[in-house]
Amino acid sequence: MANVVIVGTQWGDEGKGKVVDCLAAEADMVVRFQGGNNAGHTLVVKGCKTICHLIPSGILHREKKCLIGNGVVIDPEVLLEEMETLRQKGVEVAPQNLSLSERAHLIMPYHKAVDMAREEAKGKDKLGTTGRGIGPCYEDKVARTGIRVVDLLEPDTLRKKMKTNLEEKNFILTRWLKAEPLEFKPIYERYLAFGRILEPFITDVSLELEEAMCRGKKILFEGAQATQLDIDHGTYPYVTSSNPISGAVCTGAGIGPDKIHHVIGIVKAYTTRVGAGPFPTELDDEIGNYMQERGAEFGATTGRRRRCGWLDLTIIKDSARLNGLTSLSLTKLDVLTGLDPLKIAVAYEVDGKRMQSKPASLNKFARCKPVYIDLPGWKEDLSSVRAWDHLPEAAKTYLKTIEEFVHIPFSLISVGPGREESIILQDPFGLS
Ligand code: GDP
Ligand code: IMO
Ligand code: MG
Repeated sequence: MANVVIVGTQWGDEGKGKVVDCLAAEADMVVRFQGGNNAGHTLVVKGCKTICHLIPSGILHREKKCLIGNGVVIDPEVLLEEMETLRQKGVEVAPQNLSLSERAHLIMPYHKAVDMAREEAKGKDKLGTTGRGIGPCYEDKVARTGIRVVDLLEPDTLRKKMKTNLEEKNFILTRWLKAEPLEFKPIYERYLAFGRILEPFITDVSLELEEAMCRGKKILFEGAQATQLDIDHGTYPYVTSSNPISGAVCTGAGIGPDKIHHVIGIVKAYTTRVGAGPFPTELDDEIGNYMQERGAEFGATTGRRRRCGWLDLTIIKDSARLNGLTSLSLTKLDVLTGLDPLKIAVAYEVDGKRMQSKPASLNKFARCKPVYIDLPGWKEDLSSVRAWDHLPEAAKTYLKTIEEFVHIPFSLISVGPGREESIILQDPFGLS
């Protein structure tokens, strides 16, 4: 038995979904433990594209159980839509292959309204959230006023909580944010109806996982967002409202730290970011455009154009420490074909000093200038490469430079969006 965690090391969209889908073949269960439908995880199987926002990226594998842990925030409408889209593609989504934690918090229409009205009010200082109500939902969770999945099954509790919450949110919406108020009855009735449909899927995920582990099942935990968007360790306040780092598996799925055996950090071969916030290696030139176009860098959730730049090893090293990474999986190596030379940031210079790690002060981080090393590029198309030995020498040098700098070995190299477009170097489920 081995349990594996997959996390993003940069600002999201590293290709976590692709790697989860690829490794799910070796697992028995796939579990989401934080975030919500701000995530967009793309899976490409036999040329057919599926985007998972809430349902774990193992769903395309029949016989594998997918679970949504208590740390995830659920928009029931989005969850039901996602189930429906999958079913239309012929993918079975039933209580046998999907569980939803009774302790997960629910995203309510007023969370989305507050998220959007706040962004609007911030004007040019906006964070660039996905507008899905993620932040306001986690705020209510911490304020101990949140509504949980289990409440959907208790109409009186739901009514009471929703009434109190809506009163407060309507005050904020109308008096502070100058937005429209929301009406209680239609929301209450809709959520009761969601509860009736979701009831067969609702379980105690922590107990389900314990029982599976006792039977020697292999579990893959799927992170959403990424380390640099972590509420504690990311580029605050330009972050999301959960902890996407590996430690959050324990709180967000209900397991102990001794149950984690391997942590994979997904590293995109260059860097991207959606939304606002400092990004030291950002390229506002034709090289950035080349990455954006070749990498088809558009947000899988909001469709926004992703900002692109060189690989920044300073943040990867921070991510290695914060997540306790066992191995790295590098994605989108194929996108770098044709660029020569390639640059990698290995430190920052700020106020005449060199820094090996990102500073907490966002003002200081915004002033950080990357210190680059140059590496040779390659011209070969990599999409059909399936073995390390078949990679061009320059690509091997690029990978070895990363490995040596971070001191963590690669377990997988991805050379295309398709499930099979991967070079597998290590089985993370094989306990070493
Ligand atoms: P996630 O949020 O981390 O799961 O990543 P996204 O799905 O939002 O974004 C990654 C994008 O890159 C998706 O469109 C994937 O299909 C695509 N992708 C993943 N791995 C590779 C790869 O190795 N090469 C190329 N060209 N595309 C990839
Ligand atoms: P996946 O799982 C990339 C970003 C938003 C915004 C900030 C806060 O696909 O990698 P939020 O709506 O969470 O309050 O927005 O976080 N963001 C992501 N960026 N990939 C994601 O998820 C993201 N989820 C949130 O763009 O800058
Ligand atoms: Mg994404």
